[in-house]
Amino acid sequence: MCGIIGYVGKKSASPILLEGLRRLEYRGYDSAGVAVLDKADLVVRKKLGKIDEGIARLLKTEPVEGCLGIAHTRWATHGVPADKNSHPHFDQSEKIAVVHNGVIENYDALKQRLLQAGHKFKSDTDTEVLAHLIGEHYAKRTGKSRWGERPREPKSSPANGSSGASPHQPNNSEALSQAVSDALREVIGTYGLAVICTDFPDTIIGARRGSPLIIGIGKGENFLASDANAIVAHTKKVVYLNDYDVATITPERFDVSNLGTDTANVQISNLEFSQEDAARGKHAHFMLKEIYEQPQTVLNALRGRLDFEGATAKFGGLNMTAAELRGIDRIVIAASGTSWHAALVGEYLIEELAQIPVEVEFAHEFCYRNAPLEKNTILLVLSQSGETADTLAALREAKRRGHRALAIVNVVGSTIARESDGGIYMHAGPEIGVASTKAFVSTISILTLLAIHLGRMRHLSAKRALGILHGLEALPKQIEKILAQKDAIKKLAKKYAKAEDFFFLGRGYTFPIALEGALKLKEISYIHAEGYSAAEMKHGPIALIDDKTPTVFLVPQDAMYEKTLANLAMIRARKGPIIALATEGDKGIKRVADDVIYLPKTLDLLNPILATVPLQLFAYDIAVARGCDVDKPRNLAKSVTVE
Ligand code: AGP
Repeated sequence: MCGIIGYVGKKSASPILLEGLRRLEYRGYDSAGVAVLDKADLVVRKKLGKIDEGIARLLKTEPVEGCLGIAHTRWATHGVPADKNSHPHFDQSEKIAVVHNGVIENYDALKQRLLQAGHKFKSDTDTEVLAHLIGEHYAKRTGKSRWGERPREPKSSPANGSSGASPHQPNNSEALSQAVSDALREVIGTYGLAVICTDFPDTIIGARRGSPLIIGIGKGENFLASDANAIVAHTKKVVYLNDYDVATITPERFDVSNLGTDTANVQISNLEFSQEDAARGKHAHFMLKEIYEQPQTVLNALRGRLDFEGATAKFGGLNMTAAELRGIDRIVIAASGTSWHAALVGEYLIEELAQIPVEVEFAHEFCYRNAPLEKNTILLVLSQSGETADTLAALREAKRRGHRALAIVNVVGSTIARESDGGIYMHAGPEIGVASTKAFVSTISILTLLAIHLGRMRHLSAKRALGILHGLEALPKQIEKILAQKDAIKKLAKKYAKAEDFFFLGRGYTFPIALEGALKLKEISYIHAEGYSAAEMKHGPIALIDDKTPTVFLVPQDAMYEKTLANLAMIRARKGPIIALATEGDKGIKRVADDVIYLPKTLDLLNPILATVPLQLFAYDIAVARGCDVDKPRNLAKSVTVE
C-alpha cells in the first residue's frame, strides 16, 4: 500500500506535500517523491528511504516552488525500492506526472505495446506504464505527438473553414481528464492516482478503483489524498471517491465523473477526528500512544451499545431486522492478519453465546475457494483500515453470491464500510502504528457485544448477558491496571530481548491471543515467534523447545487452567524458559514459571482483551530494546491494499 497526496491552491505546495507524506508514511515508506508545477515548469524530486532521511533532505538542498503538486510515499510492489522506481513517474513527453497506489495487473502487456510504439521506460514499475498510457491518450486527444510537440499546423486559409487548429482541441483540462479515463479503461487492476500536466497548471486529476482516494475541500484550495490523516490539518470537509470515479480539482472547484455510470455519487462528509488525534503527542511512538489509548477506545466501542434494561447490546447500523438476525444460520468471518486473530475470538464468542455455527476464513482464501454457503449464511468482515484488498475482495465475493455482508471497521467512510450492507464502527480514532493494537481490542469488544445481541435472540439468559455487560464495563479500569505494570513488563522485555525464537501458547479463548502476541513480536522486532494452541505443542513443535527458546504462556484461571498448566509443565520439563500471563492471586504459578505478569480477574470470555495488552507492551519494549523502527517496521505497511 502507498500514500498519495495532491494540493492545488495559492500556497507553496512543497511544505504541504511533505507534511502530508509524513502523515501518510505509515502506509508505506520504501521511498518518496514529489512533483510540483511552477507555471509550465514540472519539477520532480524523489528519493529512496524514509521521508525524513530521503525526500525531506533532498527538498532542503533542492527546493521546488509552485502552488500545485502531487506526492507519493511508496510500499514497493513492482520494482525494488530504488530512486528510479520511486514515484512520481513521467509519461514519454515528460509533461505529465503520475503518482499511484495499487497494482496494474496487465502492465506488462501494455508496456510491450508502448515499447513497440517507441516509448522508452526508465523504471521497472507498473505506474510508469500507466503514466505513458495516459500520455499516449493525451497525445491522441490533443493531436500532439507522444513527445508532447504539437505537429506543424497544416497550411490552411480561413476560406476553407479550417481554423488552423487541429480537430477536437478541447481548450480546458477535459482533454487530460478524458485521457486519464481512456487509459483507465484499458487497465486491469487497482489504482488510487493523481495526475498533473504542464498544460494545466491549476488542475489535478484523481481517480480510484480499489485503492482509497479522497478530495479535501478547502477555501481557494483543494486536496487529494489516500486518507484523511494527510489533510485533516487543512480541512475536515471531504468527499470519499468511489470506484471508477475520476475527479478534476482546481483551487476553486472539483468535479467528479464515473467511468462505469453516468453520474458520480458525490457526498460531502465531515471528518470525526482532529489533527491532534492523528498526532503522536508525548509518546515515543504511535504504537505506544495507541496501546495507552485502549481504556478510552474500549469505552468508545461500548458507548451507547450496552442495553442493561434489555440485558443485551444494541447497534444502529446492522441494517437487519430482528427477524433477519434471528434467521441467520451460519456466519463466515473473513479478515487478514491481526483482524483474523480477532475473528477467531469472535468464533468462540458467537458459538458459545449464540450457538450459531461460525467459520473463520482468511479473506484471501475465502475469495477463491468457492466455499459452500447456505441460504441464511452471512459474511462478517473485520478490518481496521477498511481498505485491505483481500478483505474487500471477500466482501465483494459474498455479495456477488447474494449473501449479506456486514463489517466491523475503524476508518469511517472507508471502502469496506461503504460497500458493506451494514456494520459497526470501532470509533477507535486513527490507528497510525503499523502494528495494530487498539483496533484489535476494540474489535473483540464489539464482537462480544454482537455475540450477546445474537445470543439474546436465541438462548442466552438475561442473567448471563448482564454478567458479561458488567464485565465489559469493568474492562477500561482493568486495562489501566495492566498498563500500570509497564515498568515490570519493560524489565521482562529487556531480559528476553536477545532471544531469537519465541513461542506463544494459549488454549480456548486465549489461543487466538497467543497467535496475536506472536504476530506483534515478529512484525516489529523481527524475532521469529510462533503462536500455538498449548495442547498442540506436544504434537511436534515441542521439539523446538530448548533453554534458549522462551515461551509466553497464557494461563489465566479459566476453564482450561488445569490442562494449560499440564502443557506448561511439558515445556518446563524441557528447560524452556516460561513467561506466564496469570490471574491475580494465582500464587502457585510462580513455582512453575520463570516470570509472571498478572491479569485482573474477569470472565473467561473477556480474558482475550486483557491478555492482549501486556503482549502488546512486551513486543513494543523488545522492539525498542532491539533498536527497531516500531511504527514503520521493515517490509510492512499499515493497510495492504493489494491482493
Ligand atoms: C497487524 O498488526 C498488521 N498490521 C496486519 O496484520 C493487519 O492486521 C492486517 O493487514 C489487516 O489490516 P486491516 O485490519 O486494516 O484489514
